[in-house]
Amino acid sequence: MRLPVAASAPGKVILFGEHAVVYGRPAIAVAIALRARALLVPSDRLRVCGRERGGSAYVWAALRRLWDGPAVDLKIASDIPSASGMGSSAAVSVSSVASILLSRSEFSVERVAREAFEVEFGVQGRASPTDTSTSTAGGAVVISPRWEGERLWEIRKGKKRWRISRVQIPEIPLVVVLSGRRSDTGKMVARVARALERNPSLWSVIDSIEDLVREAIGPLRRGDLESLGELMRENQRLLRELGVSHPVLERIIEALEPHVYGAKLTGAGGGGSVIAIPRDRKKAVDAALRAGFRVVSTSMSPTGVRQERV
Ligand code: PMV
Repeated sequence: MRLPVAASAPGKVILFGEHAVVYGRPAIAVAIALRARALLVPSDRLRVCGRERGGSAYVWAALRRLWDGPAVDLKIASDIPSASGMGSSAAVSVSSVASILLSRSEFSVERVAREAFEVEFGVQGRASPTDTSTSTAGGAVVISPRWEGERLWEIRKGKKRWRISRVQIPEIPLVVVLSGRRSDTGKMVARVARALERNPSLWSVIDSIEDLVREAIGPLRRGDLESLGELMRENQRLLRELGVSHPVLERIIEALEPHVYGAKLTGAGGGGSVIAIPRDRKKAVDAALRAGFRVVSTSMSPTGVRQERV
């Protein structure tokens, strides 16, 4: 056993396809340059961030699932705003799992992706592997029932199957604006499930999101910002129809509109963040700030999970 060990993993934003991906449809996500770090050290009792109870449910779930050694303390530090649709819980799950596997010399990127998905699924009750696989892989990732680029791995849960592929894309400029409202992934996923049950015609919205995601892969590879912005606007319209937008998200989008190619909520919605492709970054950021919102300055990250020096 090797202790102490440390690992880190990036947050992510979903560019296209959230919610539909829960139903086995494709989504595209990119890792961002904000990270969570996990440090695993010997301890007198099993602890998370120095405490015997409380703290992140994801870290406890990772320990319960994978740890069977002597007492340790798994400490987390993260620069990713939580409950904001930026993949904070996935980055915490991925870095926790990675530190545990590193300590046992069982680390492989694919194993981390699988275990971290199980950890997140266990805590949230339902989830797709979008966040955990993007955080593990880094770069731009397509989650789809079929292979869409360089094959990374396949994840199954019950009858569902997701194939995770990497796509090579140029750097896409992004502005992320925080709404200041929590986004509760479990609650929003359950809301969509209820809406689809009550109103089966909403399945056509899920179908349209699927078409749109497939259409976005070409412009993404080419870095065609004009087309991507148009597709973002369309994706936001469909998410609104699904009932996962929120007036505060619409206010952000309206404030950004004159300065961006397109903007949409990212992640589960109901709060969380808006992503936009800026025509003029400074003007877009100023508009969001003037409207009273926090802006996260970040970029895409090619680096997924990695070991850190202790
Ligand atoms: O809120 P986030 O960033 O965890 O994204 C959730 C994305 C959903 O498609 C709504 C759920 C999922 O697990 O894919």
